[in-house]
Formats: sequence, structure tokens, C-alpha cells
Amino acid sequence: MSENVFETPKREFFDVLNTRKTIRKYTNKIPPVEAIKIIADAGRQAPSATNTQNWEFIAIYDDTMKEKMAKCVENKYDELQNRVENEIDKAKLNGYKYYSMFFTKAPVVFAIVEQKRVSTMLTILEKNGMTKEELNCYDNRSSILSMGAAIENMSLAANALGLATCWMCAPLVAYKEFSELLNIGKGNKVISLLTVGYPDGDNFTRPPKKTLEEVFRIIR
Ligand SMILES: Cc1cc2nc3c(=O)[nH]c(=O)nc-3n(C[C@H](O)[C@H](O)[C@H](O)COP(=O)(O)O)c2cc1C
Repeated sequence: MSENVFETPKREFFDVLNTRKTIRKYTNKIPPVEAIKIIADAGRQAPSATNTQNWEFIAIYDDTMKEKMAKCVENKYDELQNRVENEIDKAKLNGYKYYSMFFTKAPVVFAIVEQKRVSTMLTILEKNGMTKEELNCYDNRSSILSMGAAIENMSLAANALGLATCWMCAPLVAYKEFSELLNIGKGNKVISLLTVGYPDGDNFTRPPKKTLEEVFRIIR
């Protein structure tokens, strides 16, 4: 009988939900493919507008690929720096650079790809003379919301497995270059990265959340 190399820990749902936090520092331990598959599978279970499931989850272990992607991000930031004149803005932009590039230090990086989706409803409405503004009202961001649902599922699954993540959009300054490097097909777009690794330490704090009273009301 083959040795069970990866055991799925069982944790209460609300424990997983309430302890999820962004972690940007990882040990060198490499998450097993079994764990990464469980995370991708959690993404696959997410709801999507009209059940299109127009996503692909690419798990990048390859350091050379991560470095290539980071180089593209760095080049973009250099390009942007040249276009910004104000020194304070330049410094702020430089601050973003770290939050865009540390993914090279993560043992695994998911690239989440939004595949081109043809909405039947939009096609019908467009054919019948609706303006762009009207079309936006009907199907504004359902595809991107579906991606968000998948990524949150993946973040929670990783937490349940004792793995840490950081959801990243800042590197997408280089989204066109990512398309080529990852060969994701015409019309498709990398819309987020999700780093995965074992947390390096156990005292990471989470930025404060608004209170329930601030964000919730009941109408009855
Ligand atoms: C859509 C999205 C994009 C994000 N992009 C980045 C990013 O590019 N770099 C980064 O370091 N953190 C990024 N974050 C992580 C947020 O900074 C983090 O979720 C937030 O500070 C709240 O902390 P928590 O996740 O621990 O609750 C992103 C989070 C979301 C949801």
C-alpha cells in the first residue's frame, strides 16, 4: 500500500473563515501537489455567472517562470516611474513595487485566468440596440465577480490546509506579458495571482476589520 503523503486536516468552517489572513512570508517548505490540487478544486466549486466557469487555475512551482514574471512587473514599474514627475508619487509607487513582486519568494503562485466569456443576454441586448451604458447595467461585472468567488474559495481551502496565501492584483501591471509567458490563449486574461506557502512564523496580524454595525443593516 502506498504511503499517505498528505493528510487533509479537518477544521470547523467558521474557524477557517475567521482565521484566514493575508500572509506574505513563507518558509522554504514546498506545498505538495495534492494540497495544491485541493485548493484548485475549491476554486472549481465556486459559483459563476450562468455557470460559465470561465476560469483556469495555473499553479506555478517553477522559480524561473516566477522570476520572468517578476522581471516583467519590474520593467513596468520602471516605465511608470519614468512617467511620474512628482517625487512623493514616485516614492509611493516604489512602495507598491514590493507588494507587487514578493510573489517570487512564494513556493507556489497560482495565476488565475479569466477566460473570454460570451454572454447570451448581452449578445441579445446588443443586437437590439442597447447602448454600452445600458449593457453595463445589465451585466456589469459578473465575470470578474465569479473569479473573486473562486479565489476566495481557494484562499479558504489553503487556510484549512494550514497554508498561507496572498491574493495579488498589483502585479497585473504586467498582465499582457503574463498572457504570453503563461500561454493562456487569445482573449483570456490573468486577473489575479494567489501565492501559497507555509507561513514563516505564527504572529502575523491581520489589518483591522470594520465592525458589523458599520457594514450591516436590516430592513424589515
Ligand atoms: C482583490 C485583491 C487584491 C489584492 N492585491 C494585493 C497585492 O497586489 N499585493 C499585496 O501585497 N496584497 C494584496 N491584497 C491583499 C490585501 O492587502 C489584504 O487582503 C487586506 O490588507 C486585508 O487583509 P487580510 O487579507 O489579512 O484580511 C489584495 C487583496 C484583494 C482582495
